[in-house]
Amino acid sequence: MSDSTQVKELEARKQGWTEKVEASLKKRPERKTEFATDSQITIDRLYTPADLNEFEYEEQLGFPGEYPFTRGVQPTMYRGRHWTMRQYAGFGSAEETNERFKYLLQQGQTGLSCAFDLPTQIGYDSDQPLSRGEVGKVGVAIDSLKDMEILFDGIPLDKVSTSMTINAPASVLLAMYIAVAEKQGISPDKLSGTIQNDILKEYVARGTYIFPPAESMRLITNIFAYCAKSVPNWNTISISGYHIREAGATAVQEIAFTLADGIAYVDAAIKAGLDVDQFAPRLSFFFNAHVNFSEEIAKFRAARRIWAKIMKERFGAKDAKSMMLRFHTQTAGSTLTAQQPDVNIMRVAFQALSAVLGGTQSLHTNSRDEALALPTEHSVLIALRTQQVIGYEIGVADTVDPLGGSYFIEKLTNEIESKVWEYIQKIEDLGGATKSIERGYMQKEIQESAYRYQKAVESGSQVVIGVNKFQMKKEPPQELMRVDPAVEQLQVAKTRKVREERDNKAVEKCLSNLKEAAKTDANLMPLMIDAVKAYATLGEICDVLREVFGEYQAVATI
Ligand code: 3HC
Repeated sequence: MSDSTQVKELEARKQGWTEKVEASLKKRPERKTEFATDSQITIDRLYTPADLNEFEYEEQLGFPGEYPFTRGVQPTMYRGRHWTMRQYAGFGSAEETNERFKYLLQQGQTGLSCAFDLPTQIGYDSDQPLSRGEVGKVGVAIDSLKDMEILFDGIPLDKVSTSMTINAPASVLLAMYIAVAEKQGISPDKLSGTIQNDILKEYVARGTYIFPPAESMRLITNIFAYCAKSVPNWNTISISGYHIREAGATAVQEIAFTLADGIAYVDAAIKAGLDVDQFAPRLSFFFNAHVNFSEEIAKFRAARRIWAKIMKERFGAKDAKSMMLRFHTQTAGSTLTAQQPDVNIMRVAFQALSAVLGGTQSLHTNSRDEALALPTEHSVLIALRTQQVIGYEIGVADTVDPLGGSYFIEKLTNEIESKVWEYIQKIEDLGGATKSIERGYMQKEIQESAYRYQKAVESGSQVVIGVNKFQMKKEPPQELMRVDPAVEQLQVAKTRKVREERDNKAVEKCLSNLKEAAKTDANLMPLMIDAVKAYATLGEICDVLREVFGEYQAVATI
């Protein structure tokens, strides 16, 4: 029987079935009059092959490890290697975070992910006035190479991949990482890991920017060029949708704005004279795993297919690795509740499962207490064990793309894809991601979605257990993690000692070389490495660049 005949037959059958539905609705109306995903995509009562009647397997799905990679970037996916279990960690001093890193590795995590404190993220030393009260608070305090040596003490950098959530000063932290590896006798070509290095989303959603867009793009493409030559296994950027989603974007906006940022980075690298296949294989992404299970799975599958098409058709990439969208996922921090925190363990488990069914390469699972404080060691352990149960016990890692072929998932993947393309076109019409950010377009779209979501929670149509349904009058007290405020004084003293003991003449020389080079179009990475090796501090290096580049001033949204 031909497909179209089958579809017609099915349509007729579905008509007949609708009478049964009507009878059932008379007896018991459905919970809601309208079912929709976070991205306002209507969810039908039932999906059948008729929903996929233009379905071309080869064109839309293909095989895992082959263009358009819808079903996954590796031919064998998790049968060959689980996703990297990579818990975001960092607080207080380098010594404390080094301890947490080692604890996590001992408990079976397979990659490191470093959180830096705010002063580090915006290029200030712990003893600079703007750092007061923030040192070691939301991440580890790093001022100089000395701190990085302590941070990775006893961790062989050729055996573990390290992600660093650092953006504006990414080049300085990468330089320090390379310098630490060298002190361990490890050459840069043996290093694997990622720096987030995605400044565009900082302007849109996260806020840890320093320099204006053009100067930031220059530093980013400097890293692309330097790593392509000298650190070939390093993922030079983690183009992030996570924070865009956390700011209130829908799943469709998360993918659309992130891929639009990706297009801007590829454009900038090509304009800087790089060949697309020289740097594109080392671009990576970072997405959110949010609360709507099916939409999240479909979102990841659609994202792979869209990026593959963008790289092949728009940028003419020839290397299949340039078309592979490889990504890390973090479960959605914004869905964690302060109320009944144990319930967060289940939220995180389902969100993590959606990331695995969506084909993630690396995963962070949030801890149950993170709506209240940094996670305790026990909470982090439960979060890691959640990944291990999914990876080793329940069988979803035993076949590739297990939900592929589901009428619902494939329909949703198609609908997300077409909505994402619409947004990408809109952003192109505005002159691309950077221009659309400068005009506040993405920010405005996100604010509107955030407002809609908040109204839905307040009205109860978006259920949040413990918050607007099944609340408890009295909840048991929580044992929370606290960062010792003394860490600030200790860190300031440590950094002052580094400045006293180093060769300050050599530091002055390195900083003035960097300053002169920043005024030209030279690649600054080699000079950054010289400066950190002389124990120039992060703040000193960023102050030199602030002098030459100036600082970004946020825009009011349109
Ligand atoms: N068969 C054969 N080979 C396989 C395989 C299979 N089935 N599966 C994996 N491999 C290979 C890969 O090809 C790779 O080898 P290669 O480097 O030679 O290609 C190796 O095994 C490692 O696999 P992946 O590269 O897939 O996994 P990684 O974990 O190394 O990299 C990544 C994943 C997404 C590409 C990388 O960019 C990454 O780790 N990103 C993490 C970013 C991160 O942790 N961000 C956290 C930010 S926290 C934050 O910002 C939130 C805060 O603000 C609140």
